[in-house]
This record gives sequence, C-alpha cells and structure tokens, in this order.
Amino acid sequence: MPEERIWFDTDPGIDDAVALVLAASEAGPAVEGFSSVAGNVGEAQAAANVLRVTRAIEEALPGALGSPRLARGADRPLLRPARHATHVHGEDGLGGRLPPLPVDLLPKRDVLPAYRALVELAPPGERFEGTLVALGPLTNVALACLCDRDWPRRVRRLVVMGGSIEAGGNATAAAEFNFFADPEAARIVLEAGFPQLDLVPIDAGRRLAFTRSQWSRLEGIATPVARLVRELTGFWRDRVEAAGMVVYDAIAWMAVHHADLFDWRAYHVTVDTAGGAADGASVADRTHRPRPSNCRVAVDARAEPFWEHFFALLKCGGGAGTASPDS
Ligand code: BDR
Ligand code: CA
Repeated sequence: MPEERIWFDTDPGIDDAVALVLAASEAGPAVEGFSSVAGNVGEAQAAANVLRVTRAIEEALPGALGSPRLARGADRPLLRPARHATHVHGEDGLGGRLPPLPVDLLPKRDVLPAYRALVELAPPGERFEGTLVALGPLTNVALACLCDRDWPRRVRRLVVMGGSIEAGGNATAAAEFNFFADPEAARIVLEAGFPQLDLVPIDAGRRLAFTRSQWSRLEGIATPVARLVRELTGFWRDRVEAAGMVVYDAIAWMAVHHADLFDWRAYHVTVDTAGGAADGASVADRTHRPRPSNCRVAVDARAEPFWEHFFALLKCGGGAGTASPDS
C-alpha cells in the first residue's frame, strides 16, 4: 500500500465514518490527522464523532491508526447560517450507533484551529507530499486558502467529495449538500489553484448505491471492522432495503488509492453563490471552448471492481476470520 501522508477534513456523518474505517484499514498510520467542520452536525458534535469513530476503530483494528491529531474547525460556514443533515445521519450524526464521548475528552477549539493545522501541513518553503481528503463543507480548507494564498500550490493533492455535474442535487434540486452548506467556501477552494484537485461528486455514486445485496455481503464478513461498518450503516438499514443508499464519502476515500475505479474528466468547475434556485450548485464548463480546467472530476465508476475492493478491505481488517464463502 502506498505510504503517503493523509489528512481528513470531515463532518461525521455516517458515510464520513465509513470512509475513516476504510482508511484505517488501508492506510493506517499514514492518517496523520483530522479537522472537524460544521456540516452534517454542528462542529462540536463533528469533533466528538471523529473521536468516537477513531475509538471504535482502535477496538476493531488495534494499533491500525498511529496517533492522529484532531484540530477543531469552523462552527459555521463563511457567510451563511449553518445547515445540518441530521435527517440523514441522525441527531448525533452517527445514527446513535456508537457510545457518546465524555465532553472533557474533546480538545479545546483554540488549541490548534483547523485552518492553521491545514496551513502547517505545508508551511511556507515546504510541501505537503500527501493527500488532503475533504469530506464536508469546505469552510476550513477555504480559510486556509485565504490565510495563505500560496498554500494551495504547496499541497500535492486535494480530494473533495462535493458537487454534482449531471446528477442533480441531493440538498436541493440543484445542489449537493457539502457545496450547498458553504457555497462561498467551495468556490474559493475550486478557484484557489490546487495543482491536483480531484472532485468526487454525486455522479461518481450513481452506480454505487449500497443495496440489499451489499448488505448481505457485509453480513457475511466476520471481521471486527466489517461489524463496525455494519453497526454504522445499520441506521440506514430500512432505506438500504427499500432503495439503497450511496455512501458518498467512502466513495471519495476509494478514489484516493484506487483512481482507476473511476472515469475522470478535466473540467473548470465553479459554484453558484447567487442565492437563487441554483444556490450552491456546481457549474462545470462543458462548452466547446471551455475555460482551462481547475480539477479532475470522477464522472462515473465501475461498480463491480469497486465493491470487490471495498469488501476486500473489510475482510482483511482485524484478522478475526470469515463467516461465508463470500468473505
Ligand atoms: C455529502 O453530504 C453529507 O451528508 C455526506 O456526509 C457527504 O459528505 C453527500 O452529499
Ligand atoms: Ca461528509
């Protein structure tokens, strides 16, 4: 497995949590830290959820993560009131599926603000030779861009879950949740000059719904890490049975090490911030004379190999054996 530094900016979120579990299983100690951001839930809950998930990972995969840091981030978008998605992820963001965290275990907000922690990954004169994976509204990342205009150019790779090119929105008819929650931040980040910005929008998940068939595959794997993913996604069980759910942030994680599972297209993408019906929508230039691209977009994915990789990660994690021929 490639040894590279990984930092997550995240708002857990059930699919964020699944992404962190897969990352621990695959990249382990390379995951050097997390920053929390208001999104699916408020920032304090998001920070607590990072620790709830990392504790659960430590139980399922002892020693898999090294000693990742947690930097607390923005508690509201740059210019807008906060919007949450507890109707999707439950009041606590994790469907009530993991034990709560004693409040005194949370680091104080001002010890190392997230935007500073991000800038310090690549301080002036140094490069971050790793991947920053952004799974929530882009407030912290935008603040880092504003704080040091040259910082984006020192970050080797940024992978963002957000936006929708052709698939329509999930927060509104036009906008995907992470971009809708902080459209100004998303726009700043897209236009900041990151040398490699990989955008994983809703489109990447259109063949990757987690359905009854994935659920029964998951039930057939007896490793502690598979049990943890079962626990986390259990809150969605009824919806999985009915129509399938897309685990967007886990898809974005898979794009980090398995870019070959996706079809990529280079586009210039920006974000509508005008406050109308398309507020927060991503706008990709698909004209005959497009503006120079500012990102590479995962427009589609190959479902079969995707699920093979996904379940392979859960099978080898934890070493507790298997329960069926599938595993
Ligand atoms: C994104 O919105 C959130 O609810 C998920 O965690 C994911 O990051 C999908 O639109
Ligand atoms: Ca998220």
